[in-house]
Amino acid sequence: MTPDPGTLLDLAVDVAHEAGRLVRDRRDAVDRITVSATKSTPTDVVTESDTAAEALIRRRLLSARPGDGLLGEEGATVTGGSGVAWVVDPIDGTVNYLYDIPQYAVSIAAQVDGRTVAGVVHNPASGQTWAATRGGGARLDGRPVRESGCDRLDRALVATGFGYDSARRAAQADVLRAVLPRVRDVRRLGAASLDLCGVATGWFDAYYERGLAPWDLAAGALVAEEAGVLVEGLGGAAPGPEIVIAAGPALFPALHDLLASLGADRDG
Ligand code: IPD
Repeated sequence: MTPDPGTLLDLAVDVAHEAGRLVRDRRDAVDRITVSATKSTPTDVVTESDTAAEALIRRRLLSARPGDGLLGEEGATVTGGSGVAWVVDPIDGTVNYLYDIPQYAVSIAAQVDGRTVAGVVHNPASGQTWAATRGGGARLDGRPVRESGCDRLDRALVATGFGYDSARRAAQADVLRAVLPRVRDVRRLGAASLDLCGVATGWFDAYYERGLAPWDLAAGALVAEEAGVLVEGLGGAAPGPEIVIAAGPALFPALHDLLASLGADRDG
């Protein structure tokens, strides 16, 4: 039987709030968080809070739904038989967390046969929670949210982000150099899930980034889509590691064509 997305969302929200408390309490307990490991590059950091939060999320989700699969940023990979898989980023925006910048999030998505049906993005520092089910709309703290409706690239506030690899960053800087003179302004918040929720809420008119992993994208993309945002790659491709472009339908074509002309889906 196909699980009800609302039931999956309720579980995800409870677990995201619990993990958020753990992450926030650990941050509040010390002046400085220490880096416990690095991943793809020396700037791609892991803290003990990332690991502890992912363990909590895994334990809570799989004890509530033992047959499910799970993919977590910090290495959790569980193959389940139920058809439901959870995609988890215990702290999206780990570098912000390290520096105590209040822009980081617990991101949990539920996928059925590979398609996200429920997602929550919770910022423990602000207390804000975005939640969505497919076809059920997107909400911030219970209130429906909607994209900005912006239809002009030269009036668009555009969020973006950068990878950890320096060659990729150099290519991203070249793209940004061409985008910046053509838009209202640019923001780099440091947490992809919050960028996507920001477009959903009208805080930004658009967002693009190359190099996102599934856990950066899954929950925030559903929140954005349910708020009327198109979330795609280039040429109608699915959003993914090559590039994610998120904007309302009136703005999307102009941003898409600019990014396509700049080869924003390549590392130079
Ligand atoms: C990162 C953040 C950042 C984005 C990077 C992501 P992490 O996730 O979302 O904003 O620019 O591409 O890897 O490492 O903090 O979970």
